[in-house]
Amino acid sequence: MTAQLIDGNALARQIRAEVAGRTQALKARGVEPALAIILVGDDPASQVYVKHKVNDSSETGLTAKLERYGADLAEAELLERIDALNKDPSVHGILVQLPLPKHMDSHKVIEAISPAKDVDGFHVASAGALMVGQPGFWPCTPHGCLRMLDSIGYELRGRHAVVIGRSNIVGKPMAMMLLGRSATVTICHSATADLGAMTRQADVIVAAVGRQNLVTADMVKPGAVVIDVGMNRNAEGKLCGDVDFDGVKEVAGWITPVPGGVGPMTRAMLLVNTIEAAERATA
Ligand code: GUN
Repeated sequence: MTAQLIDGNALARQIRAEVAGRTQALKARGVEPALAIILVGDDPASQVYVKHKVNDSSETGLTAKLERYGADLAEAELLERIDALNKDPSVHGILVQLPLPKHMDSHKVIEAISPAKDVDGFHVASAGALMVGQPGFWPCTPHGCLRMLDSIGYELRGRHAVVIGRSNIVGKPMAMMLLGRSATVTICHSATADLGAMTRQADVIVAAVGRQNLVTADMVKPGAVVIDVGMNRNAEGKLCGDVDFDGVKEVAGWITPVPGGVGPMTRAMLLVNTIEAAERATA
């Protein structure tokens, strides 16, 4: 292996320790930072994610207030609940776990969250703030990727980053964050013709499509940084990313593993956004 590993577990641990310190500082001023987590229905993956979020919060001293509702909850009731949480000064962050049941309009629900408490960074106001360089909450996954680049002291200015994937919660905000650091950014997606011709020009590749082996060794410039946001299951049912890790690690300069890469960073950045929300609300 020639590439150096960017260890998401280790970096996330460090970030959690920083958040724990900030939490203690708020508590010393009499503020109990709190995150409300709303889970509607019984999607098995969502239940696991939410359990992690509750545990991560407790571990860093944040109060996690989990509210669980049946899959038959009316959208209007959910909107009322969000409205109450928006007005509740003891709640600093609000997270509605996605996906929501099919009878609900997820966009409408997310837009009901106060931007000041939008710790997922999914609200249009949060996306707009990122776009125009104003303070807001950045989505956790791309923010975590940026922190991984920072952790290796990577200077993005003047570099070419290729982001593969154009989702509202990863690809697009990732591109904005990289642009904000004066990188040149190309956004590709699964339908991009000759993806390899694009990625071979890249100093940084961020793969966020959700397709195993999307990025192979022949698509990577020697020494490039490869960040793998993918979360897929391979033929044996094991978790894998979008990058052919075994091949690409022989070419890249830096690479993130799956598992143990971007995943733990996403979780850590939710804690960062939550403590940030509490600090802003009580400044
Ligand atoms: N479902 C899967 N990932 C996420 C996430 O980061 N936030 C929310 N709210 N729901 C999700």
